[in-house]
Amino acid sequence: MKGLILSGGKGTRLRPITYTGAKQLVPVSNKPILWYAIEEMAAAGVQDIGIVISPETGEEVRSKTGNGERFGVQIQYILQDKAAGLAHAVKISRPFLGDDPFLMFLGDNLIQQGDLSHFLEVFKSQQPDALILLREVDNPTAFGVAEVDPFGQVMRLVEKPKDPPSNLALVGVYFFSALIHEAIAQIQPSPRGELEITDAIQQLINTQKQVQARQLRGWWLDTGKKDDLLEANRLVLDTLLETCIEGNVDAASQVIGRVKIGKTSKVNNCTIRGPVIIGDDCHLENCFIGPYSSISDNVKLINIDLEHSVILKGASIVDINQRIIDSVIGRRCRLTAAPPRPKALRFLVGDDSHIEIT
Ligand code: G1P
Repeated sequence: MKGLILSGGKGTRLRPITYTGAKQLVPVSNKPILWYAIEEMAAAGVQDIGIVISPETGEEVRSKTGNGERFGVQIQYILQDKAAGLAHAVKISRPFLGDDPFLMFLGDNLIQQGDLSHFLEVFKSQQPDALILLREVDNPTAFGVAEVDPFGQVMRLVEKPKDPPSNLALVGVYFFSALIHEAIAQIQPSPRGELEITDAIQQLINTQKQVQARQLRGWWLDTGKKDDLLEANRLVLDTLLETCIEGNVDAASQVIGRVKIGKTSKVNNCTIRGPVIIGDDCHLENCFIGPYSSISDNVKLINIDLEHSVILKGASIVDINQRIIDSVIGRRCRLTAAPPRPKALRFLVGDDSHIEIT
């Protein structure tokens, strides 16, 4: 069994964060989203993994993730020279996949720990031509959607339907036999100009191949947008974070609940209410850091109140006298207090940024 993780795409829904980096490397609880997929595959016993990368962000993904040694797997990188769709990514991965059955995982999706192993067992024991995972969603028009008969048999799949036949979305995790390659050879690009994996699975159904569907048990998130990213961060901190204080916390500080503080970080006169993760080499002074906050390495926070936010590497936030909530702050951003007179707002804000002011 091989694993294929798709890590291309432009990440338009997560701009401006993705102007300077791959969406799959945006951290959730201080770890790149992509690494959760690799770890889940490793835990399920899938050790031969191909990662499809794009010309724009491929080098960053490869240099950060490496050859798989740190995860106990082997990783090969497969360059997809244009964003031509998920089925196109499978097509160009054929030399790596050969005729083996494989598990495909979209690198910006996160599923609850342990679910992958469970469905891999289902796929191995039942040996269908494809096994897809479904989940009820409120906004099916944003996904691939399945129409399922009362016995759980998939009747029809549609990609981003205007008029969805159900609220069952295709989760970005698929199990395939080698027959998917024949199906991909028979499909045409969709209206958005891509070879859709949804259409290839529909082609399997049209030719009477066995396509099974199961509903996912645990949580699932497609981290494509800011609020989904914050929600993923909340769920991972809630379920996986363990207390570990390696940095220096002074006697005037209070640390409550599950909190992780990395090496050589300094925490002076702060209240930190977990779950909170703070990376290495951070400096926090006179702060309240509330639940569900992830603070990456090299971050400076002085005189601020923060809650339910993700702060990326090298950012600094100083002397803001209102609580910051529900925020994602990009790498090396600087948020500072303005001089009191003249009372005015002063910005240097990148393209596609989003700021709310009260
Ligand atoms: C892709 C698939 C879609 C699936 C979704 C899950 O959409 O095409 O069928 O429901 O992933 O995240 P995309 O994120 O490429 O728009």
